[in-house]
Amino acid sequence: MYSNKVMDLFKHPRNIGEIKDADAIGKVGNPICGDLMWVYLKIEKNKKGEEFIKDIKVKTFGCVAAIATSSALTEIAKGMTLDEAEKISKQQVADYVGGLPPPKLHCSVLATDGLKNAIEGYKKKKH
Ligand code: FES
Repeated sequence: MYSNKVMDLFKHPRNIGEIKDADAIGKVGNPICGDLMWVYLKIEKNKKGEEFIKDIKVKTFGCVAAIATSSALTEIAKGMTLDEAEKISKQQVADYVGGLPPPKLHCSVLATDGLKNAIEGYKKKKH
């Protein structure tokens, strides 16, 4: 059913909670199951002057796959530039957790959409 990595991320989720002085906040819901996720980002500039994700935290009310993939997303996205992070795909997240059962593949969309929502909101606010 679930991989060992999924169960580990579900039982010991990484980077859970809020960032009080977040530079960007994303919120996304899955209209089918009603699961919800918030993404908090702390953004800074690297030596090349590109904005990157200095810190990321998530709060997820959802199924095992939603919690594991949103936690995985934080590990994948931390340190990436905003342009790189926007391109993280649901397949990349699913692969990172060692695969998901087909009926649960859609759950990884919550994580990638939540991050995209936060980055888009941040870019709109700035420009
Ligand atoms: Fe809702 Fe997995 S069942 S995100």
